[in-house]
Amino acid sequence: MKIFLTGASGFVGAAFAEAAHRRGHRVIGVVRQAPLSVPGLAQQLSFDLTDSAALTSALFEHFPDTIVNCAAVAEPAQCETDPVRSEALNVALPTQLARLANHLSTRLVHLSTEQVFDGTAAPYAVDSRPNPVNLYGRQKLLSERAVHAAASAFAVTVRPPLLTGNSLAGRRSLHERLFADWAAGKTPRLYRDEIRQPCTAGSLAEVLVELCERTAVRGVVHWAGTEPLARDELARRIRAHFKLSEKSAPIVVIARADTPAESATRPANLTLDLQPLAGLLKTQPESFEAQLDQFVVPPPFREWYHAQ
Ligand SMILES: NC(=O)c1ccc[n+]([C@@H]2O[C@H](COP(=O)([O-])OP(=O)(O)OC[C@H]3O[C@@H](n4cnc5c(N)ncnc54)[C@H](OP(=O)(O)O)[C@@H]3O)[C@@H](O)[C@H]2O)c1
Repeated sequence: MKIFLTGASGFVGAAFAEAAHRRGHRVIGVVRQAPLSVPGLAQQLSFDLTDSAALTSALFEHFPDTIVNCAAVAEPAQCETDPVRSEALNVALPTQLARLANHLSTRLVHLSTEQVFDGTAAPYAVDSRPNPVNLYGRQKLLSERAVHAAASAFAVTVRPPLLTGNSLAGRRSLHERLFADWAAGKTPRLYRDEIRQPCTAGSLAEVLVELCERTAVRGVVHWAGTEPLARDELARRIRAHFKLSEKSAPIVVIARADTPAESATRPANLTLDLQPLAGLLKTQPESFEAQLDQFVVPPPFREWYHAQ
C-alpha cells in the first residue's frame, strides 16, 4: 500500500519507514530538513507541516491508502517553552490530517501518549479517564478527540509509553540520553517512584504497520512493553547490560517528594493495560530484557564507551 508518513526523520517515524518498507509497503515520508536521508522511504518530501496548504496539496497529489502521523513536539518541556508551535504540531496538524483522511476516505494512524493520564490510578485501560498533568498531555488528548470526531470511520490512535531503542542520530532514546549524560561527566537524577512501561520504537513501528493493514481496528488503543519499571531500575539495567561501572556511569536516585514542583507535572505511574490490542496483533509486547538485547552503543558516544 502507499503510506504518507509525517515525522519521517523522528524516532518513531524512521523506525516505521524501515518496518513498513520491510513489509513491502511504499512509504512517502515528510521531513522538515531536506539533507537528511531516511532509510526505507520510497520518496522523501521536505516541507513544514504547519503549512496547511502545502500539506493539503501533498496529500491530494499522492492520494495515499494510509496516513501515519509521527510528527509532533514530543518533549513535554518543549511544549511548555513553545506552546504555539507545539499546539500547531500536536493539535492543529492531526486535526487537519483527520479532516483530509475523512475527505479522501483514507486510513489514519495517529500517535498520542500515555501522558494523557495523571499517573495516580494505574493500570490504565483504554477507557480509563484521562486527566493530563502537563501541556503535552493536554495537547495530545485534544488531538485524540479531534481526530476521532473528524475521522471516526478511518482513524486509530495509539498511546505509546516511554520509548527505547536506537534512534537515527543516537541521541533520542532512553539509553542514548543516559550515555550522553555519562559521556559529558554528568550524573543523571532518576526517580525511584516514577514508573514507566517502556517498549522499543521498533516494536511500536511493527504495531503501526499492522494497524495500517488492519483497518477494522479503530478508536484509541494502548501499546507498551511487558514490564512496568521505575526510572532508576531502568538505568541500572542499562548500565549492567553495557557492563559499565558505577564510577563511569553514575546515577543519583531521587523520590518524587524531593521535587514537588516538578513532580506535579510528571505522572507517577503510567502502567498500561494493553487489551484489546495485545490480543489482536501478531506483534507481541517485549520484556525489558528483550529490548536491552537490541540496544547498541550510540554512535556519538562510541569513543567514550571504549575508553571506559
Ligand atoms: N519518544 C517517546 O518516548 C514517545 C512516547 C510516547 C509517545 N510518543 C509520540 O510518538 C510520536 C513520535 O514521537 P518521536 O519520539 O518519534 O518524536 P521526534 O523524534 O521528536 O520526531 C518528531 C518528528 O516531527 C517532525 N517535525 C516537527 N515539527 C515539524 C514541522 N514543523 N514540519 C515537519 N516536520 C516536523 C520532526 O522533524 P525535525 O526532526 O526536522 O524537527 C521529527 O521528524 C509523537 O506523537 C509522540 O508524542 C513518543
